[in-house]
Amino acid sequence: MYKIPTFQFLALRLSAIRLAILAALLCAPLTAAAAREAILEGERAVPTEAQNGIVVTSHYLATDEALKVLEQGGNAIDAAVTAAFALAVTQPRSGNIGGGGFMLISSGRKDEVVAIDYREKAPALASRDMFLGTDGNVDEELSRFSHKSAGVPGTVAGLLLALERYGSISLARALEPAIRLAQDGFIVPARFSDGIRRAADRLQRHASSRKIFFKPDGSGYQPGELFVQKELAATLQRIAQLGRDGFYQGRTAELIVEEMQRGGGLISLEDLSNYQPTVRQPVHGSYRGYDIYSMGPPSSGGTHIVQILNILEGFPIGRSGHNSAQTIHLMAEAMKRAYADRAEYLGDADFVRVPINGLTSKRYAETLRVGIDRERATPAAGLPPGDPVPYESGETTHFSVVDRFGNAVSNTYTINFSYGSHIVVDGAGFLLNNEMDDFSAKPGVANAYGLIGGEANRIEPHKRMLSSMSPTIVKLDGRNFLVTGSPGGSRIITTTLQVLMNVIDHHLNIQSAVNAPRVHHQWQPDEIRIEEGISPDTVRLLQQMGHSVSRKPAMGASQSILVGSDGTLYGGADPRNSTSSAQGF
Ligand code: DON
Repeated sequence: MYKIPTFQFLALRLSAIRLAILAALLCAPLTAAAAREAILEGERAVPTEAQNGIVVTSHYLATDEALKVLEQGGNAIDAAVTAAFALAVTQPRSGNIGGGGFMLISSGRKDEVVAIDYREKAPALASRDMFLGTDGNVDEELSRFSHKSAGVPGTVAGLLLALERYGSISLARALEPAIRLAQDGFIVPARFSDGIRRAADRLQRHASSRKIFFKPDGSGYQPGELFVQKELAATLQRIAQLGRDGFYQGRTAELIVEEMQRGGGLISLEDLSNYQPTVRQPVHGSYRGYDIYSMGPPSSGGTHIVQILNILEGFPIGRSGHNSAQTIHLMAEAMKRAYADRAEYLGDADFVRVPINGLTSKRYAETLRVGIDRERATPAAGLPPGDPVPYESGETTHFSVVDRFGNAVSNTYTINFSYGSHIVVDGAGFLLNNEMDDFSAKPGVANAYGLIGGEANRIEPHKRMLSSMSPTIVKLDGRNFLVTGSPGGSRIITTTLQVLMNVIDHHLNIQSAVNAPRVHHQWQPDEIRIEEGISPDTVRLLQQMGHSVSRKPAMGASQSILVGSDGTLYGGADPRNSTSSAQGF
C-alpha cells in the first residue's frame, strides 16, 4: 500500500504555542463555543485524525476568513460556508450567490459521505426548444448571455442547508466576513482587474453590471484599488437576518424577478420560493484499494471518474510512468469511452433513469477495457456509447477544507462561464448564472464546452442541467485521505481524475500532483488536449499511435488537500490561478 512520503513543504503542523498566540490575538470566540465536533449523526469525535485545520481555495481572502473559523473552533462545514460566501464577494467571476454547486461532506472516522446538491434548476416556464432560433439551430446568444440563460439559483439554499445540518456557527458569523468585504471593500489583485477587462464588452452591455464593476467614468478597477459592493452587502445582510427568505422571498426575490421582467427572463417568485437543495448519496467506487466518493447526477463527474478509474485499474499505470506516452494513451482511451457514455446516458436522475450502477461497475469497465489497443488509438467516430444497462443492479471554483476533528469538505460551485450571464440583478448586486447552456439545447449539438448531450439532458421545467463538477473525497481504510476537485467545464472530470492518479499511481506529493501538466480527451472532438509541459517526444509517440494532439491553455484549477497517515495536512493550491492559497494552522 502507498505510504505518504515525508516531504516538508506545505506541511502544516499545529504548534501549541502558536495556537495560544493566535487564540489570544483573535479573541473572538465563536457564537457556539462548543462547536459540534462530528458532523454526521451528531457523534462526538476526538481529534485523533487531523491535528489541525487547513483551507485551500482559489482566493487568499476567502482562505484567510475560513481559516479563522477553523482556528476559533469551527468545523470544516463552518469554514466551507464562510469561504463560499467570501468568494461570492472577492471573486465575482465564479464565486457566487447567483449560481449553484455541489458539496461533499465526510466525517473523519466513518465511511459516511454525504453530498449536498444545490445545482440550479430550470424555471417552470422553461421548455425543450427554448434556445432554438426560427432556423431550428441553437441560438447561442440566447442560451449563454440572455436573462433566459439563468437557472433558478441554488447556492444560498445549499450553503444554509449545510450550515444548519452539519455546522456549528451561526449564519451571522458565516456571513460576517462576506458582508464586511462587500461593505468596506477589498484591495483588488491583478487577476480581478484582468478578468473584468476581458469580460468588459459583455459586462458593459448591462447598466446593472456596468454600475457594479466599473467606475462612474467607465474605467475598470486597477490592482491595488479598493472595490466596494454596497448592493451585494445589503443582499448578504438580508440573508443574515432572514435566512433563506432573505434570498428566495421578499426584497431579493422581487429584485430578481424585476430583473427577469426587464430582460425577458423566466425565473418567477414561485420558482424561487420552491427551490430546494437535495441531500444525496455520492457515487462510490474503489481504485487500487482506495475508496472514491464523488458527485452523482445531476453531475456526470463522479460517475465518470469512477468509470475511468475502473478501466485504468486493469493497467499497470504506475509502471507506465507519469505522463508517458503509454500512460496518456491509456488514459485518453478510457476518457473517450466514458465521455461517449456521458453524452448518451447522463442527465438529472430525478427526471431520467441514469444507469449509475452499470456505468460504475467493474464488470462493465472490463468490457470497455478489452476494446482498448495498447498501441493504437481507437477513432472516436467508430466508438459509440457502450451498453452499461445490463450491468445495472440500479469558471467555477473549487475549494477543500479539513478540520481538526477530521471532517472534510469538498465543494465546487459555479455560475457557469466567468461572470455567468454577465447580468447583475439590479439593486441586488450579484451576477446571474448562465447554467441553462449546460442543458442539451438540441440533441447532438455541442454546448460551450464542446460536450454533446442527448435526450437525457434535454430541457424540462424544474429539471437540473447536467454538470461535470466533481467534488471528490478519497478515503483509505475509512479515513479521509485526499480532498480534491476543480473548475474547467468538461475538463473538470479529467483534472480531478489526474490529481487522484498522480497521488495514487505516481506517488507525487499533493502540490506536485496539482501542478503537473494535464491531458484531456472528451470523445468529441477526437483529440488529446495537453497543457504546456508534456514533452515533444511524448507528443510524437502519441501521434504515432494515431492520436491527434492539441496543445491548449491551462486546464482546471484544483485546490486539494492530502491527509498524511499521521494526521499531517498537506495543501496543494493550484498555481494556474494567481490568487490560489493553501493555509493551515
Ligand atoms: O456544471 C458544469 O459542468 C459547468 N457549468 C462548469 C463550468 C466551469 O467549470 C467553467 N469554468 N472553468
